[in-house]
Amino acid sequence: MPYTELIEDRLRFMEIDENDIVELQQARQYIEPEIDKMLERFYEHILSYPEFAALFEDEESVRRARASQKKHWLEELFGGRFKSSYFNKAERIGQTHARVGLAPSWYVGSYSKMLTQFIGRICEQAQVEGRSACETVQAICKAVLLDVDLVTHCYLEAKNQAMREVLRRATQFATDMAELSDGLSDSVSKAQSAAALLAGTEAGSAEHTKRLQDLLGQIESVGEQSNAIDTRIGELQFGDRLYIEDDPSTLDRLKSRFSRD
Ligand code: HEM
Repeated sequence: MPYTELIEDRLRFMEIDENDIVELQQARQYIEPEIDKMLERFYEHILSYPEFAALFEDEESVRRARASQKKHWLEELFGGRFKSSYFNKAERIGQTHARVGLAPSWYVGSYSKMLTQFIGRICEQAQVEGRSACETVQAICKAVLLDVDLVTHCYLEAKNQAMREVLRRATQFATDMAELSDGLSDSVSKAQSAAALLAGTEAGSAEHTKRLQDLLGQIESVGEQSNAIDTRIGELQFGDRLYIEDDPSTLDRLKSRFSRD
């Protein structure tokens, strides 16, 4: 399913309509002048945790993430632009967080630092103007949950992709080992014949025969280990296939889940 349709399904399910989009676009004028201060508090908070600070390569990495977030919130979320470019953005955030190792629960938790600031600013402004902030707050909550939903979904997709790659490489390794093991069987047979011949000659002293038999033992053990690895990888592959086949195309799955047909 094209991203546009996927987004439309999501918007329908979460009941994000034109009114919400207008609310978000109007809210932007109150958020924009404050966004730098909000981000300042956000980073002060997350960087006070050494395990999160360690996820950033350097100062430049913090600056990049911060600039991207600012753009994301102002242009996409408060721009009410939930089009395919928005999904691409969510996909990229999910992939980047998967790459740096930021688990979804921390991403979701950290969002509260921004959501409370967004709501705080909107309520403050509504109070000054003597009107209710209810509809704007509802629109912001829906948009943030949509954001979290898509980014988490894309994060998991990125992780699944990485897992499939590991499995592919492990399978290749097992295949190589199996081929090596076949080669070893041949060598074992030849070495066994040689040991039998040597045992009947003078050159085949007890010492030589013993060393050859030790070597044979080691070769056989390598072969057995390779078979064990092969079996284990086969099991893993089966488990992963079950998971993947149950979920052949995430987009199709989402479509059927949210389709009202
Ligand atoms: C509040 C929710 C968050 C949002 C909306 C968000 C958004 C983003 C965005 C838009 C990017 C740029 C993606 C790209 O173009 O590749 C990014 C990158 C990044 N984010 Fe987040 N982020 C959030 C929370 C966090 C948290 C809590 C951390 C760490 C504790 C974090 C760590 C990073 C890192 C390390 C990068 C890569 C920066 C770089 O080196 O370019 N993010 N994030």
